[in-house]
Amino acid sequence: MKTTISEVSKHVGEEVTIGAWIANKRSSGKIAFLQLRDGTGFMQGIVVKAEIGDDKFQQAKALTQESSLYVTGKIVEDTRSPLGFEMQVNDFEVIHEAVDYPITPKEHGTEFLMDHRHLWLRSSRQHSVMKIRNEIIRATYEFFNSQGYVKIDPPILTGSSAEGTTELFRTKYFEEDAYLSQSGQLYMEAAAMAFGKVFSFGPTFRAEKSKTRRHLIEFWMIEPEMAFMDHNDSLEVQEQYVSHVVQAVLSHCKIELDTLGRDTSKLSKIKAPFPRITYDEAVQLLKEKGFTDIEWGEDFGAPHETAIAESFDKPVFITNYPADIKAFYMKPDPSRPEVVLCADLIAPEGYGEIIGGSQRIDDLELMKQRYEEHGLSGDAYQWYLQLREYGSVPHSGFGLGLERTVAWLSGVEHVRETIPFPRLLNRLYP
Ligand code: 4AD
Ligand code: MG
Repeated sequence: MKTTISEVSKHVGEEVTIGAWIANKRSSGKIAFLQLRDGTGFMQGIVVKAEIGDDKFQQAKALTQESSLYVTGKIVEDTRSPLGFEMQVNDFEVIHEAVDYPITPKEHGTEFLMDHRHLWLRSSRQHSVMKIRNEIIRATYEFFNSQGYVKIDPPILTGSSAEGTTELFRTKYFEEDAYLSQSGQLYMEAAAMAFGKVFSFGPTFRAEKSKTRRHLIEFWMIEPEMAFMDHNDSLEVQEQYVSHVVQAVLSHCKIELDTLGRDTSKLSKIKAPFPRITYDEAVQLLKEKGFTDIEWGEDFGAPHETAIAESFDKPVFITNYPADIKAFYMKPDPSRPEVVLCADLIAPEGYGEIIGGSQRIDDLELMKQRYEEHGLSGDAYQWYLQLREYGSVPHSGFGLGLERTVAWLSGVEHVRETIPFPRLLNRLYP
């Protein structure tokens, strides 16, 4: 019977056939241990000379890394492996022999691995990270669908900029200029006025010359937008959503977290509500922590975010930033217009900002004024202003960066390992 590694728990004591690759192998004179992978998981196969016969045993000993084969044998329990099962191999048939696979079990440099990303994805570490990414995506749809949100797909090619004009990828759109989307937000605001509660999930692009462990040129963002919800309502959605995703990964990705050596006790604590501090309090906290030169009105960098996060064992919201360092569309605090009704959610353990969100300006005149101040006026934004002309309502939304969330939950240092084919400064291959 044909099956997969993910299904072997249902076949204990039975003989099954699995299509697989040789991830690794070690052998002695009498026994060979095959590290098998089939895409669904990793499992050890044991080949015993006395049982399989001399010819076949020599063939097993000669199997090369990443050769493909059909392997047949009995599934037995194995309490030492993360999977909990192994195969006693009775027979195998080589499909294709791989010669000189470049990624050997020895250590390789990052650039070498990145040049071989198309093969590196096969490793147990990369496999685990991608499975965790997949679970975050699944849990995202589960959460928003269960809460009555409608999935809306904003365009990728746009005529307007959502997050400032300096980091736009420009392209020709026949005779016009177009940009690759930095954020679907402006379109999601239109969608919220049509459907109430909406979310998007798609690729976004930033021509940022940043070379840090948190920055990608192309990354994926989940952007919910809610009509009739103020800033505080939005913070509640955010903490519920993030808690749901973390708990889903903990329950469905045990093998993967184990493979990565992730300290899950830190993740178990991630349950709503999350702590909230204002920007003013954050500046004060930073001064106390020795950042004596930070001034009110300055934006925080990665070291600041890490220092603030250290004071909490859950993600922390930093709210009410100065309007001058935030986007044009954020609603000023009515009691204190120099700050806006916004929050960044900072992940624990130094993973930085995973969410940026705010209540949006709903007043037409104020929005027009902001446009002028940011030099954004023009035909490309007429539609966005019209949202404030016809039944404008309080509304809020946020964007969660998928890759930074994957990095945090997987415990990997750099976002380059959190997306199948990362686009980084100076890297478009493979
Ligand atoms: O804070 P940002 O720029 O917010 C927006 O784009 C809003 N329009 C979202 C909204 O309200 N609908 O980006 C949101 C999140 C960040 O918190 C971060 O997690 C991620 O997107 N992000 C990046 N991730 C990887 N590489 C980059 N260069 C990123 N820039 C932002
Ligand atoms: Mg931000």
